[in-house]
Order: sequence, then C-alpha cells, then structure tokens
Amino acid sequence: MKRWVYQLSLGLLAITACSPTLEQMAPPVSPAMAANSKVSERNLQLGRAAYIAHCGRCHEYQLPDSVSDEDWHIVVPGMAWNASLSKQDEIAIRQYLIAAKSK
Ligand code: HEC
Repeated sequence: MKRWVYQLSLGLLAITACSPTLEQMAPPVSPAMAANSKVSERNLQLGRAAYIAHCGRCHEYQLPDSVSDEDWHIVVPGMAWNASLSKQDEIAIRQYLIAAKSK
C-alpha cells in the first residue's frame, strides 16, 4: 500500500474512533430498560426519537450518564423550551433519558 493511502486510512480511523456513535449518545431502548423504568417501550422509543431529533441541534448530544436524575428534571424543561418542544415530547425525552441511565 502506498504510504499516503495508509496514512489517510489511519486518519479516518482515528476520526471515527473519537466521535461517539449514536448507540453511545442515545442507547437503544431495550425490554430491560422499560421494565426498570416502568415506562412502556413505546414511550421510551418516542422519547429516544425526539431526543435524537432535537437535542443535538445546538450542541453535542449530552450523554444520558453525564447528568444526574435530579438534574434532568431541571435541564429538560429548559432545553425543551429552547427547542420549542411539545409538553408530550418533553415528558417522553425526560423519561427516556432517565431510563437510559438507570440500566
Ligand atoms: C435551541 C438550542 C438548544 C436546543 C435545541 C437544546 N439545547 Fe441543550 N443547551 C443549549 C445551550 C445554549 C446550553 C448552555 C447554556 C444553558 O445551560 O442553558 C445547553 C446546555 C445543555 C445541557 C447542560 C446543562 C447544564 O446545566 O450543565 C444539557 C444536559 C442539555 N443542554 C441537554 C439538552 C437536551 C436533552 C435537549 C433536547 C430536549 C437540548 N439540550 C436541546 C441549547 C440548546
């Protein structure tokens, strides 16, 4: 392999390795997540979809683990206002974020 090709692929690899995947930024909903949080899988799916749609627009997705349960109750209403979300989306996002955390 030509040296520049090799360096280019190493560079690309480094970029992919450094940016978190969607799976890390928004863990997929699982039956266990629904059972632990006592929120239906459907509602959690809605919350995850709304989170992915709205919460990465102004800043990086905030990893669910980076904020405590209490803080989500304060942060999400503010961010929902930022994003002009419906009350329904706001509640779904908060439920999803808290559920995604308490695995
Ligand atoms: C319209 C732009 C905008 C949207 C949309 C938005 N945010 Fe933010 N977010 C901000 C800004 C600006 C800050 C930093 C200032 C602040 O805390 O208000 C921030 C900060 C945060 C923080 C850190 C707060 C803290 O106190 O440390 C979290 C967590 C967060 N956002 C989560 C979310 C979530 C979850 C959503 C989706 C509901 C969201 N954001 C949507 C603009 C936005």
